[in-house]
Amino acid sequence: MTTPDFDEIIDRRGTHSAKWDGMEAYYGVSPDDGLPMWVADMDFRPPACVTRALQDYIDHGVFGYFGDDAAYRASIGWWMQERHGWQIDTGAVFSTHGLVNGTGLCLQAFTEPGDGVVLFTPVYHAFARVIRAAGRKVVECPLALTEGRYEMDFAAYDAQMTGNEKLLILCSPHNPGGRVWSAEELRALADFAIRHDLVVVSDEIHSDLILPGARHVPMAVACPDISDRLVMMTATTKTFNLAGAHVGNVIIHDPDLRRRFETVMTANGISPNSFALHAATAAYSPEGAAWVEALCNYLDGNRKLFDEGINAIPGVTSMKLEGTYLAWVDFSGTGMEATEVQRRIEKDARIAVNYGESFGLGGETYQRFNLATPRARVAEAVERMQKAFADLQ
Ligand SMILES: Cc1ncc(COP(=O)(O)O)c(C=O)c1O
Repeated sequence: MTTPDFDEIIDRRGTHSAKWDGMEAYYGVSPDDGLPMWVADMDFRPPACVTRALQDYIDHGVFGYFGDDAAYRASIGWWMQERHGWQIDTGAVFSTHGLVNGTGLCLQAFTEPGDGVVLFTPVYHAFARVIRAAGRKVVECPLALTEGRYEMDFAAYDAQMTGNEKLLILCSPHNPGGRVWSAEELRALADFAIRHDLVVVSDEIHSDLILPGARHVPMAVACPDISDRLVMMTATTKTFNLAGAHVGNVIIHDPDLRRRFETVMTANGISPNSFALHAATAAYSPEGAAWVEALCNYLDGNRKLFDEGINAIPGVTSMKLEGTYLAWVDFSGTGMEATEVQRRIEKDARIAVNYGESFGLGGETYQRFNLATPRARVAEAVERMQKAFADLQ
């Protein structure tokens, strides 16, 4: 593998990029001088094995329906075993149009309108959006903040349960905040799910983006005894920057849950996108693995640079990430309203971020910054932020 050059500045403007070309309409920040640090995709090309696979497909030039997915399934099996020590039944994988789609399908398959769905907040905003749009109830269980890191507080959550809750969505690793949950924490979560008879949907889309020092444990590995209530979700899209391909793996080992999910897949007419499956099959490979190693080291460098510069601003604290490339920055120490923080970020620093309040309870004083961009841009963002908050120095 040639060493990836994550420092290369690739102009994404005018490519229908949500992050770049959608920024001005959302934030009034022009892509000509602004820094898009919101939508969770990366400003890097995927590994060459992925581009080659897509190029071969395009060179062939016939784009009919995808069939014979044996190689695709085998690549998932190989990756999960090799990278995560998780042996899967490759026949238990459903290919959905991404994991937000997978979440929506799980709600249809395993809950009824009006049922409660447990989220540990602050958490990825699309979960609540999909739950509400499906006519289910969001049950927000706030994470506790202990010495600057998020923890789950099951005694408090036990007291919150009413019996109407049917499903919980775990984000592992956690977005935002970047917690990589330990096997002990996952065990406590499994016991909570058993106590309240909940189906567990474990969204592990960020599980390959683990920073040095942390180790991801798949829920299915930590707690094999809950396989009769467990739905695992993984994807190549965050890991390899293929988010536009909208493809995800929903892996269900329990035959009854699998049957219910399959019925909903059929009812919604979901079948695979051939471009996505060509890309995903190539990604889950030794070449893809070497690229991910290099990526995680690069992201760790970005994180260190960002944290050092941002934490030097009085009253501003960036949470120490264990995984993901999504910095989670608390502005509560500035004493400013969120609207003033956002005004400074957009108007003065000309940066677009995700607003903390959109992640649910506990996110109100935070803003989320995407660090998956060439390091020079991270350095530029830090400099602009220090200027925008210079009066606090
Ligand atoms: C936890 C989590 N799940 C799902 C997604 C998006 O998944 P998809 O693009 O496959 O729908 C994201 C994107 O940031 C995410 O953070």
